[in-house]
Amino acid sequence: MEDKIVTVSTRPNLALVKYWGKRRKGEECEDPFLNLPQNSSLSITLESGKDLLTKTSVVFSGKLSKDEFYLDGKKQDLEDKELQERFLAIKKLRELAGVNTKALVVSYNTFPTASGLASSASGLAALTFAASKALGLDIGSERLSEITRIGSGSACRSLFGGFVVWDRGRKPDGSDSIAWQLFNEDYWHEITILICITTPKKKKISSRLGMKNTVESSEFFKLRPKIAEAHLKQITEAIKKKDFSAMGRIIMKDAMNMHSTMLDTMPPIIYLNDISKEIIYAIEDLNESEKRIVGAYTFDAGPNACIICMKSDKAKILSKINEIKGIERIIEAKVGSGPKLLSESESLIDIKNLTPLQNKK
Ligand code: ADE
Repeated sequence: MEDKIVTVSTRPNLALVKYWGKRRKGEECEDPFLNLPQNSSLSITLESGKDLLTKTSVVFSGKLSKDEFYLDGKKQDLEDKELQERFLAIKKLRELAGVNTKALVVSYNTFPTASGLASSASGLAALTFAASKALGLDIGSERLSEITRIGSGSACRSLFGGFVVWDRGRKPDGSDSIAWQLFNEDYWHEITILICITTPKKKKISSRLGMKNTVESSEFFKLRPKIAEAHLKQITEAIKKKDFSAMGRIIMKDAMNMHSTMLDTMPPIIYLNDISKEIIYAIEDLNESEKRIVGAYTFDAGPNACIICMKSDKAKILSKINEIKGIERIIEAKVGSGPKLLSESESLIDIKNLTPLQNKK
């Protein structure tokens, strides 16, 4: 096969019904490396101009003696255990294509520092999307999501734009644990997302370890799968009806429900800080005084708040949270599109030398 460079761009996603906790071996799961979730989840893909973007080029070539991966201009150590787990997705794609050629991967993220949004979801989606195209594999995004999930659970949702569901599935081999698009990015464009950066610090505990501890030690977590599945049903109805109030209530309830299982973990996991709490009180106060849901807050595994609101209410929300001291920055995003194939001129790889192109982003 001729060396073919494929370059793509992808975006992160924000879960409105959260994923926190994997199935363990024997719990409808034959291998924990499959990243099979305890519950289904729902996300929106985020778009913010040239921010919050991953750009990745992949080439498979017989001239390479081993896989190579460059991230943000730095060569990565593929002996690293976490990276090896991520590259399992590439191994799977090679098996599907029936080839053994090695890959050169060059990638850049344009995530503002400490945005609190996982660049790994966007990054892994870019990696598998580009690799599948470079290998000439003709599999749809839903099937590809199964493989992407192996690299990083929530990355499977970044294979689509708009409103995306990741079905938990039941099969131990994970073949029914896939993502699919509920509505595309044009469906409800009156919605906007304000990402409030409350700290530049790196989180103390990784999601991977945090989830494991929660599943193993939290009593509350036993209730979580059922609650999250109910939230998924309710939020799907709310989105179908474009009922912002109903959607907003579920967003806040689900985030707090997930954080309560974190707090119930031994040792406790506390991602929210004092500023996160101020934001919660400010939004609750605004919703109370307006007697409707003006904004809905949600938090991932970190203290940064994402506030979802209608564009027409953005000024109200901003004036309320601008009173809070300590918010370092607010990034505005909209419901965005899925992966894009980019032209040859956007390639990050020098095809003659099979090296990263310098000074190219
Ligand atoms: N992890 C974080 N960013 C990534 C990227 N761009 N590609 C692969 N893995 C990543």
